[in-house]
Amino acid sequence: MVSTMLYAQEPISPIPQSIPHDFAKVALGKKLFFDPILSHDYTISCASCHDFSKGGADAQNVSTGIHRQKGSMNAPTVLNAVFNFNQFWNGRAKNLTEQALGPIHNPVEMGLSLKQAALRLQTDPAYSRSFSKITGRIKVTPNDITVMIAEYEKTLITPNGKFDRYLEGKSTLTPKETEGYLLFKTLGCISCHNGVNVGGNSYQKMGVIVPIKHNAHIDDRFVLTGREQDKNVFKVPTLRNIARTAPYFHDGSAGTLKKAISTMSYHNLGVKLTPSEIDSLIAFLTTLNGEIPAQAYP
Ligand code: HEC
Ligand code: HEC
Repeated sequence: MVSTMLYAQEPISPIPQSIPHDFAKVALGKKLFFDPILSHDYTISCASCHDFSKGGADAQNVSTGIHRQKGSMNAPTVLNAVFNFNQFWNGRAKNLTEQALGPIHNPVEMGLSLKQAALRLQTDPAYSRSFSKITGRIKVTPNDITVMIAEYEKTLITPNGKFDRYLEGKSTLTPKETEGYLLFKTLGCISCHNGVNVGGNSYQKMGVIVPIKHNAHIDDRFVLTGREQDKNVFKVPTLRNIARTAPYFHDGSAGTLKKAISTMSYHNLGVKLTPSEIDSLIAFLTTLNGEIPAQAYP
């Protein structure tokens, strides 16, 4: 009760230890996540671009799919994605089940039609048995595939980071980390990056104070709504594990956390930070690294 009261007044809440999930579906979803069978030429799996040794992202500016094709967007982490209010930089998928359909049939990612994907699994004896056990049917549908993957993603959460343990009264922050957290609140970063995912719960403009140039080749909210005010508007990304997922921004244009923080504070808050302030913010943001879950390992 005491610890609940401690963080009840804080704008960031801890990642829970686990969320309810179905073990059989998770096991099947995990197998699918790491299996290139879902790509046209059997070369790319979800894990190719969402690599847990790279924070659940791919350490590239923009991702590379089958036949070495480049996409136009930076791969966000799948860690804690379950807590985002919807998925993709522009929020075009309302949940993880809908999201997982995207990369499979995206021609520059996995390039396999959903019908073919379902057929491949249905005709693979081991997969066919695993699916039937859960669904009670012989037929495998595209929806079955994404249901399993989305269930697996419920286990990809990172509790017990230093900041969460601080919120729970189990750890203290260093003076530098404390200063960073205070700056994060007083500067106003917290107005967009808050809640359990320190982001992932609203759409905001990149460049609210000092505008940035609009690039017609990127998938922002404008692509979905056609409204002028939605140019350069994105789902605010989570800052959980942010120190592990360089490069940053929808186009990977910031190579380091330092660069991302100074760009962000200048364009979205109109302030130029001192090197020492940036260091403090980096120290605080690093306390948002959580435990990589056992399910992330093959
Ligand atoms: C070729 C690289 C690539 C592959 C393969 C890939 N992804 Fe992604 N993933 C991306 C990119 C790039 C984005 C961001 C695209 C956008 O927002 O427009 C993304 C976005 C996501 C998101 C949304 C996260 C968020 O914060 O909005 C999730 C979840 C995700 N992918 C899971 C998967 C799953 C599950 C698979 C396998 C079925 C998969 N990805 C395969 C590159 C890839
Ligand atoms: C007005 C809302 C808003 C404010 C204020 C804000 N951010 Fe952001 N932040 C965003 C949006 C939107 C993005 C995605 C921008 C993009 O991809 O172009 C983002 C992206 C980031 C990223 C990169 C995340 C990634 O995965 O690539 C970091 C780091 C970040 N913000 C830190 C901060 C810090 C530190 C502050 C305060 C100095 C701050 N933000 C203030 C909305 C905001």
